[in-house]
Amino acid sequence: MPDDSKPDGSNVIVRPARAVRGVIRIPGDKSISHRYAMLAAIAEGTSRFHNFSAARDCASTLDCVAKLGCEWKRLQDDVIEVHGMGPVLNAPATVLDCGNSGSTMRMLSGILAGQPFTSELCGDESLSRRPMARIMTPLSTMGARIEAAEGGRPPLRIRGGPLKSIHYRPEVASAQVKSCVLFAGLFAEGETVVEEPIRTRDHGEIALRAFGAEVERKGNASRIVGGQRLRAIEAHVPGDLSSAAFFLCAAALFPGSQITLPGILMNPTRARLLDILIQMGLKISVGHLEEHQGELVGTIEARGTVWKGIVIAGADTAALIDEIPVLAAVAPYSEGGLEVRDAKELRVKESDRIAAVATNLRKMGAEVEERPDGLRIPGGQHLHGAELNSFGDHRIAMAFAVAALRAEGETRIQGADAAGVSYPAFFNNLCSITS
Ligand code: S3P
Repeated sequence: MPDDSKPDGSNVIVRPARAVRGVIRIPGDKSISHRYAMLAAIAEGTSRFHNFSAARDCASTLDCVAKLGCEWKRLQDDVIEVHGMGPVLNAPATVLDCGNSGSTMRMLSGILAGQPFTSELCGDESLSRRPMARIMTPLSTMGARIEAAEGGRPPLRIRGGPLKSIHYRPEVASAQVKSCVLFAGLFAEGETVVEEPIRTRDHGEIALRAFGAEVERKGNASRIVGGQRLRAIEAHVPGDLSSAAFFLCAAALFPGSQITLPGILMNPTRARLLDILIQMGLKISVGHLEEHQGELVGTIEARGTVWKGIVIAGADTAALIDEIPVLAAVAPYSEGGLEVRDAKELRVKESDRIAAVATNLRKMGAEVEERPDGLRIPGGQHLHGAELNSFGDHRIAMAFAVAALRAEGETRIQGADAAGVSYPAFFNNLCSITS
């Protein structure tokens, strides 16, 4: 692709590449940045975050906390300072617009449930279709009064107040729900427990501990005692592994390619991606391991070789939920293809990601079997460039930019600016490593 990939308004043209090579500094992790911004708002003192995510989603979180009275400022492009208000925020004068960000709406709701005022949260068209019953149920049981539109969809109206603790067993494996309930647990009397069906990312627990709270983890249960006060922190946000996934998959497409990604999040609840890519044949080594505020960070070196197929199911599906779109988009080029099971949740992300992947792959000439909870994509296929749609979904836009690198002829992605929801510099960075 590279120099000749042309952004044209919200469309991007991607041309085939011959090789992938270079070093990319990936922006800060989105999941951690959201949690840091929210917890800094209710901490005492001023927090400072380096390599804070550039994602539009995290800007939505910062806008919402500002409307709740929390002042923050940008010291440099990726360095922000947040002046904590302590546990009690200000009642917002206007509705809290979460934009495209399910993380903002679901996790902030946990904090709002414990506030002595009513708040309203809304989102864009995509977020307005996403299910919120998963947080409404536990927060209502804890004592918050929550109203939503039909079917438990946004907008939400939350009347916060004193909360009771809860022992909650969510039906869906969701780190957003777990963090939401643990954040609400800070405001509840007694001990709140979230017992998850399958282990999900633990950034909520790690961030709470970094801010000085005690959170216990035993088996699949995380526990927090209410009334703990948080203290401001200074932290460096590790590079986002889910964003790195696009470049790792690009490297996997071309035997002989080589990329280096310094300072990437290596948290074991996220790093399953690396095992899967290794099983698929990518040569990966990780060095310079360090810990920042409880999160593991390392430098990834990856080399492309022959690429085998794989099945993703059960706990792996939950661990790879954000990376499945790109793994699926490049799967036709592998030797053995890809089968994804137990992935019903993909249908209620920023788009219906199962349908979006299947539609775009078919437009590129691929054979794909779409199932209610997954996909089966045979390997050894040749794809051609096509007119694709991002479906307004950042991960679909980026996944198909990567798939287009190995297609014959050029690909146009409509609505490619969706990439900014998690990774505004994505297309520039992709250009810089392809030739
Ligand atoms: C996230 C958890 C996942 C993921 C999302 C971010 C988080 O969602 O898809 O991009 O930061 O906790 P669910 O927890 O709803 O599966």
